Amino acid sequence: MPNFLNLSDAGGDAVAAMLSDAIDRKAARVGWPKAKPDADKPLADHVLAMVFEKNSTRTRASFDIAIRQLGGVPMILDAGTTQLGRGETIADTARVLSRYADAIMIRTDDHAKVEELAEYASVPVINGLTDLSHPCQIVADLLTIVESGKALPGLELAWLGDGNNVLASLIEAAGLFGFHVRAGVPQGYEPEARFVEAARAKGSRIDIVRDAREAVAGADLVVTDTWVSMGQQHAHNKLAAMAPYQVDERLMAGAKGDALFLHCLPAHRGEEVVDAVIDGSQSRVWDEAENRVHAQKSVLLWALGKL
Ligand code: CP
Ligand code: NVA
Repeated sequence: MPNFLNLSDAGGDAVAAMLSDAIDRKAARVGWPKAKPDADKPLADHVLAMVFEKNSTRTRASFDIAIRQLGGVPMILDAGTTQLGRGETIADTARVLSRYADAIMIRTDDHAKVEELAEYASVPVINGLTDLSHPCQIVADLLTIVESGKALPGLELAWLGDGNNVLASLIEAAGLFGFHVRAGVPQGYEPEARFVEAARAKGSRIDIVRDAREAVAGADLVVTDTWVSMGQQHAHNKLAAMAPYQVDERLMAGAKGDALFLHCLPAHRGEEVVDAVIDGSQSRVWDEAENRVHAQKSVLLWALGKL
């Protein structure tokens, strides 16, 4: 079953095929009404079930419009209004949703829940974010980078702040596409070792540094995310530890002159990034958000064997 729990479930060649398909489909519908299906309707008569145990704006909206543009139908299930929220097991939910839907996208906390869902579902399961990783976001990020004209192999990516789920998937992508990551993160907030080790084993340079200026020096891309992810405590000591990693104009100026700024959003303006950077000329965050639609279409097509 082609599940997409992490990028490596698909592998570099399949993710590259997703990017290429996303570029073609995006180009083919320039100027079209947003809900008009793609001409070939490759997922006509298909249902995508989406299960949310955490909040979402982009993942929810982009998968919704993505399945419609592919000719299919979205079905949204919020944990708070389903029996999942009252203790029905993941396994039973997987068995039942597999009878209604052709694919299941889930956003949850513990990554083991997504793995369990995939084990008991008889349709493909897509990770729409867990505490561990956020692979769908990174397909959109890679698309945004490629669209900007920057080649992925050899790219120098700087990450600032928390070593979280988004960084984990970026590091996984670095291993698959041969780019390098220098993460400026405080002590105790390093990214998951398994992702770092896997990317290094594939030949990517993954540096963990404490100095924010060192992290951005010579970078082609500067990327950050919230200091407090969903489900984490708003601990005062964590915010204090993150403060030196705020992406402001001065820090951005330490990267290459043509460096781009990415953020998966939602942004906490004045915390991990200042307005002048996220609203500035180097920022590509709105393209990145739009690209969730195009990227998610390709993920769905791959998962359903249409790529
Ligand atoms: N970037 C992202 O996944 O956004 P949402 O939390 O709004 O889905
Ligand atoms: N790291 C963030 C990403 C949100 C899209 C979180 O998990 O809350």
